[in-house]
Amino acid sequence: MCGIIGVTGEADAVPLLLGALHQLEYRGYDSAGIAMVVDGESADAGAGAGPGPAGAIWRVRAAGGTDSVAKLAELAADAPQGHHAAIGHTRWATHGSPTAENAHPHTDCTGRLAIIHNGIIENHAELRAELEAAGHTLTSATDTEVMAHLIEQDMAGGASLPEATRSMLRRVRGAFSIAAISADEPDTIVAARRSTPLVLGLHDGMALLASDIPALIGHTRRVFALADDELAVLRPGSLEVTTLDGVAVEPEQLTITWDVEAAQKGGFADFMSKEMHEQPDAVADTLLDRRGRGGELILDEMRLSADDLRAIDKVFIVACGSSYHAALVAKYAIEHWVKVPVEVDIASEFRYRDPVLNGRTLCVGVSQSGETLDTSEAVREAARLGAKVLVVSNVVDSSMARAADGVLYTRAGPEIGVASTKCHLAQIVALEVLGLYLAQILGTQPASKINEILNAMEVLPGLITEALARAGDVDDVASKLTDARDFFFLGRHVGYPVALEGALKLKELAYLRAEGYPAGELKHGPIALIEPGTVVVGIATRNPLWEKMLSNVAEVRSRGATVVLVADDGDEESAAVADHVLWVPPTYPLIAPVIGVVPLQQLAYRLARLHGHDPDRPRNLAKTVTVE
Ligand code: F6R
Repeated sequence: MCGIIGVTGEADAVPLLLGALHQLEYRGYDSAGIAMVVDGESADAGAGAGPGPAGAIWRVRAAGGTDSVAKLAELAADAPQGHHAAIGHTRWATHGSPTAENAHPHTDCTGRLAIIHNGIIENHAELRAELEAAGHTLTSATDTEVMAHLIEQDMAGGASLPEATRSMLRRVRGAFSIAAISADEPDTIVAARRSTPLVLGLHDGMALLASDIPALIGHTRRVFALADDELAVLRPGSLEVTTLDGVAVEPEQLTITWDVEAAQKGGFADFMSKEMHEQPDAVADTLLDRRGRGGELILDEMRLSADDLRAIDKVFIVACGSSYHAALVAKYAIEHWVKVPVEVDIASEFRYRDPVLNGRTLCVGVSQSGETLDTSEAVREAARLGAKVLVVSNVVDSSMARAADGVLYTRAGPEIGVASTKCHLAQIVALEVLGLYLAQILGTQPASKINEILNAMEVLPGLITEALARAGDVDDVASKLTDARDFFFLGRHVGYPVALEGALKLKELAYLRAEGYPAGELKHGPIALIEPGTVVVGIATRNPLWEKMLSNVAEVRSRGATVVLVADDGDEESAAVADHVLWVPPTYPLIAPVIGVVPLQQLAYRLARLHGHDPDRPRNLAKTVTVE
């Protein structure tokens, strides 16, 4: 979720770059940098570049979270005059800590080339090994830097910047939007994309590019979309777009009617809607780059050795709120696949009881922010008791990630809406990947089974997209429930944590009383509350307890409840016991929560709107809870 800006044809590029990076701040970032081709013998203010015959690359980079653009502005005050092609970047770390050395732009060995990147290069490890064997020195821990050195190789053989970039793109796998500049072609920027956004702009002798529209709006409304696997060559006042195979294409011009604030939300009414629509990417990115050549799982950042993991005889997962619900889903999956006991605990309770842990216990702390006090104190307590601690976090080098023995990052990008959506889905996926990894190490599932589940996970992004596209159906159901005040969310098996998450979303966004319950437990008390007017939302996607779930639903319906069911497409048996159905595409039962929760997010969102509440700013709530 990095931010990208580039301009050529602007003699004083620094203010434009810094202004655009400010406009991209809403995306969140942990470090920032700019690089430009400048006249003469000027060198690198940050690291590693040297002077050259046709000018030089001048570069500054700064780390320090949301202060890094301000720090960059101070460093850039000393920029030399005479700017040619210029690029800027705000980084949200995925590979490598958020340090100045890992901040973009990255340069090659000569320091005459600089590149910025948003996305993930899946085969970076093998490319790095190949480049190092060929004598290249890589100075960062990022996946991005390999691209600079690949381009360097081809340019050393006489290729132009566009040719060398094209050839580099044939070597990399993964998701990217990139922009590269070279001191040998001072006024040229080469840009390309696959699966992550990039837009181009033209204005008065300038050409621009950016990761998204807000960065361009202040400069031009002549904005063009770059499509997947297209490459653009930007020169002052001109754009040339080709496919990666070199066939010329006419870029599509976009009609820009948004102001900056609307553009920051990507045209959505609020960040929550935008982030719900980013869920397919959040899941895809969390899965990227996790498999070796033979299809086996490789968790690079994990740090815990196979021997450490083989010694594990119990898993504790500690978390709060939506992260706790993701952990509950993982309990079903890990116990089924790995056959070790998994206990899931609310972090604020765990730390004050006497949990029984020892050196053979794996304690997994799950936190989107990696800063939640209850969870960080819980994992600290687990470490004190001798357990191995693994943290699942969306923020690279968050304080929890730094303190843990091992870490597994979700790659949802920054989440701005207070209610967790895309991070929740990414957490389920990351925890299930952890479960499959444990199954692989402990040999509790055959490789073919692990492969089959991973393959099913890899199609989840498409299924989430399908589920999201049905928002209109959810809106119709929501409009029939505007008078309801009491909601029960029921589920069994992995449907139970989905029910808890649906109830939490409704409480925090629409301020409606909502109880999440395991459906089989209802008859032990809470069924006394069911009466005409109560809304029961049931998770009836297929899992081993689906039939029992339908019997529980029949019980509440016969007592007058209005029943809304989340059901697999075409499941008429579920539809027969429901007043309203929220259809979802079916998938493998243990990963189905990733799909099942989507219509419940949409239901809570729509009811919040119908009741006049702003979903981005639910009352009394903070995004990161750093108090007890
Ligand atoms: C609910 C929500 C919260 C968080 C909880 C934990 O929509 O966002 O329940 O899930 O506060 O936060 P993290 O994951 O940052 O530890």
